[in-house]
Amino acid sequence: MKSLLIVYHSQSGSCAQLAGAAAGGAREEPDVEVLVARAWDAGVAHLQAADGVMLVAAENAGALSGGMKDFLDRTFYPAIERGLVLPYALLFSAGNDGRNAVRQTQRILSGYPFPAAAEPVILRGEVDAAKLQAARELGMGFAAGIAMGIY
Ligand SMILES: Cc1cc2nc3c(=O)[nH]c(=O)nc-3n(C[C@H](O)[C@H](O)[C@H](O)COP(=O)(O)O)c2cc1C
Repeated sequence: MKSLLIVYHSQSGSCAQLAGAAAGGAREEPDVEVLVARAWDAGVAHLQAADGVMLVAAENAGALSGGMKDFLDRTFYPAIERGLVLPYALLFSAGNDGRNAVRQTQRILSGYPFPAAAEPVILRGEVDAAKLQAARELGMGFAAGIAMGIY
């Protein structure tokens, strides 16, 4: 059984909703166990137990949201020490941009070093049915790739 870890940070609930939708899509894949964790609660042990990680976060003040940055700050050296190499997917919520947060996160993850499994998805504006569907599809596609071992 393979495992997908979805780590999210959410202030207003938007990213939490997107993470839930991504998890719902991923759970369509029967050969992948899906674990959803708040960034504040997640640590390197969660990464070590996973075959892939999805980060769901917002762009705040032109940067990655603080809670997700804290998760990456805490796990960076421990992940390197363990030699972890996990494919990742990024799902970002933003008001009208999101690109800086994505660039920043990609740069940080390149140091772990984790490879990207998919193009980053930025969803701008209020969460609606279309955005939940996009999150669901990202989760479904990533889980299918993990199950097939293509990363
Ligand atoms: C303090 C703060 C700063 C923000 N800065 C940006 C920003 O720089 N660029 C952007 O596109 N959206 C920005 N936003 C909008 C958030 O990215 C957006 O509301 C997102 O959906 C928040 O998700 P969350 O509440 O689940 O964390 C900001 C929101 C807040 C509260």
